[in-house]
Amino acid sequence: MKFSVKITQPEKMIESCLIVAVFEDGKLSPAAKAIDQANQGCLKQLYKQGALRGKTGEILPLFSLINPPHKQILLLGCGKSGKLSPSQFHKVLKSAMKALQTAPASEAVCYLTELEVEGQAMPWKVKQIVEVCADSRYRFDHFMSQKNPASSLKELVIHIDNKKDMAKCETALRQASAIAEGINLTKNLANTPSNICTPTFLAEQAKELAKSYPSLSVKILDEKDMEKLKMGALLAVSQGSAEEARLICFEYKGADKSQAPVVLVGKGITFDTGGNSLKPADSMVGMKYDMCGAASVFGTVKAAAELKLPVNVVGIIAAVENMPGGMAYKPEDILTSMSGQTIEVISTDAEGRLVLADALTYCERYKPAAVIDIATLTGAVVIALGVHTTGLVANDDKLAKALLKAGEQSHDRVWQLPMWEEYDEQLKSPFADMANVGGRAAGTITAGCFLSRFAKKFDWAHLDVAGTAANMMGTTDRAATGRPVPMLVQYLINQAT
Ligand code: BES
Ligand code: MN
Ligand code: ZN
Repeated sequence: MKFSVKITQPEKMIESCLIVAVFEDGKLSPAAKAIDQANQGCLKQLYKQGALRGKTGEILPLFSLINPPHKQILLLGCGKSGKLSPSQFHKVLKSAMKALQTAPASEAVCYLTELEVEGQAMPWKVKQIVEVCADSRYRFDHFMSQKNPASSLKELVIHIDNKKDMAKCETALRQASAIAEGINLTKNLANTPSNICTPTFLAEQAKELAKSYPSLSVKILDEKDMEKLKMGALLAVSQGSAEEARLICFEYKGADKSQAPVVLVGKGITFDTGGNSLKPADSMVGMKYDMCGAASVFGTVKAAAELKLPVNVVGIIAAVENMPGGMAYKPEDILTSMSGQTIEVISTDAEGRLVLADALTYCERYKPAAVIDIATLTGAVVIALGVHTTGLVANDDKLAKALLKAGEQSHDRVWQLPMWEEYDEQLKSPFADMANVGGRAAGTITAGCFLSRFAKKFDWAHLDVAGTAANMMGTTDRAATGRPVPMLVQYLINQAT
């Protein structure tokens, strides 16, 4: 798929499918107006006849306009006329791009850059158009005997109306294409089932990825290596599984080696049965996605390398399978973590924080500028924030603010939860330094408090993506989203400038 930005004239783009807008009050976007005027007011007429009402996301595909003979027009409803909110813009884009993928054209020109969006300039719109288009093209039909028919669309031209914006829009386009590729990788890994996507498989994939960029290298630690490091918490989670754990360590060098790296840590539970604190059958479906944090580290590292961002990034992935059984760890076991702190296991289903604890301690050796972990850590975050927003806790306010900002910029949003000491007290154990569970109340925050005990030596933030990284509900609509790759790449871009 090819993306480009160009200054175009709608009347002349007759070989393409044109995407233009109409509002609820019948107002047409400039490109729609040009087409309307060239065709004796036929768009206005269609509106008057009630062929479409301009409701947000509504689509009217038009063929065989005669003057000039455009291949196809997608007339897109955009709601009340005037400025759109970023979320509204996203919504109409989604609907347009979905319709476009089944359109017969091989080239399309998108005029939605003409829409005004609150607080956002042209480059932002270009970026969103590329990312939403790539998202709507994504299929995971590797295991299907009947593949989905491929879309005939080969090229998307994004119209801009001012030369002055060209350089910035081209940068936005380049960034968005790299982000879209990163997202694709993240989705592919996440969607791959756990009988294939094991910790060893992830390690192999990491080696493959490192091969494609000279700036990227990877080191893999196996269980023996981790025993030497005394990673007692991570290894306890792994001990019930026939699959061996791996610690995957990416190093991307985009800046001088004197520059402290940003370290991304991904939870890579390739399947979470809950262990001996076994999940009910219905809650277990979707748990192949418990490595989405890890998958987002893959995607972000790939995008950073693709864009040659002038920053240093380390990506650490704790790849482990959480299984029940006679060899598996049990509630009330006491583990000694790599940090030396002891942990009483209350639930073997609170395994993510255990593997992350040792991965975080391992980060100390990189003398990081900042550490950001990404994890499908708690069901509680879905209760707190739903599936629209990633949960954030941090031990450093500047880092938290930088992530909140990157979330706004990329429309891949996060929201901060407090981490006051009252919450931390919920982790008391009568027998060890801490328990791995802090009760039902404020489950996302107490999980964050637990992690913070292993992140004392650096600025650290934790992203709980249990609601946002994938749709895990039900059986028919499960899918990875690729989040929070857009936000993380934006954060790295901001660090670099
Ligand atoms: N992987 C789950 C969290 C999860 C739940 C992700 C639902 C996506 C959807 C995690 O390992 C887990 O089981 N967390 C427990 C923690 C509890 C035992 C303290 C949870 O959220 O119930
Ligand atoms: Mn669990
Ligand atoms: Zn889990």
